[in-house]
Amino acid sequence: MGYREIPGRKFALVGDDVQLGRDVIVYEFANLYGCTIGDESRIGTFVEIQRGATIGRRCRIQSHTFICDGVTIEDDVFIGHGVVFVNDNHPNVADTIAGIWTKSPVHVGAGANIGSGAIILGGVNIGAKATIGAGAVVTRDVPPGATVVGVPARVSLRIAAMFGSDPTSDLDPSPPATAGEIPG
Ligand SMILES: CC(C)(COP(=O)(O)OP(=O)(O)OC[C@H]1O[C@@H](n2cnc3c(N)ncnc32)[C@H](O)[C@@H]1OP(=O)(O)O)[C@@H](O)C(=O)NCCC(=O)NCCS
Repeated sequence: MGYREIPGRKFALVGDDVQLGRDVIVYEFANLYGCTIGDESRIGTFVEIQRGATIGRRCRIQSHTFICDGVTIEDDVFIGHGVVFVNDNHPNVADTIAGIWTKSPVHVGAGANIGSGAIILGGVNIGAKATIGAGAVVTRDVPPGATVVGVPARVSLRIAAMFGSDPTSDLDPSPPATAGEIPG
C-alpha cells in the first residue's frame, strides 16, 4: 500500500486506500489506512484509524485516539484525546495468528461526544448526542442523549439532575441493556 501526500504535513500517513472526503484536515503523525473519512472532519496528531473504520462528516478526532476496524462514527461526533476503541473483547494470540477472531463492531450516533481517555468496548452502540465522560469504560449500549461516567460507565443521576431532565427520557423504544445508575 502506498501513502498519499498531504500538503504541508510531512509525517501524516494517509494510505492510498483511504477515502478522504472534501476539506478533511489530517494533522502531523496521524496514521490512516483503509478507512473512510467524511467531509470537513479533522483528524488530530498521533491518531490511528484502521482499515474498515468509517468516520462521518464534521467530526473532530482529537490527538492520540485509536479507532479500529469495525467502528462506525456518524456525523458531528466529537472524540477527545486518547480515546481507545476495542473490536475484540476476548483477544488471544492463537486466534489472531489463525485469523479467526470475531470482530465486535461499534457504532457511535450523530452528535455524540466522547471524553478524553474513554475506552469503548466491542459491540457497543452509543446513541445520538450521548455524552461519555472522560475516563469512562463503556461496556454496554448508551441511550441517545444520555450522559454516562465511570468504570464501568453508568448513567449518573447527579449529572442528569443538573441538566434538569431524566437521563433516560430519550431511550429507544427497545432500550439496550444499559447502564445501571450511580446513585445520587
Ligand atoms: C461527564 C461530564 C460531561 C460532566 O460534566 P458536568 O455536567 O459539568 O459535571 P460536573 O463537572 O459538574 O460534575 C458533576 C459530578 O460528576 C462527577 N464527574 C464529572 N465528570 C466525571 C467523569 N468523567 N467521570 C466520573 N465522574 C465525573 C463530578 O465529580 C461531580 O461529582 P460530585 O458532585 O460528586 O463532585 C464532564 O465532566 C466530562 O467528563 N467531560 C468530558 C470532557 C473531555 O474529555 N473533553 C475532551 C477534550 S478537551
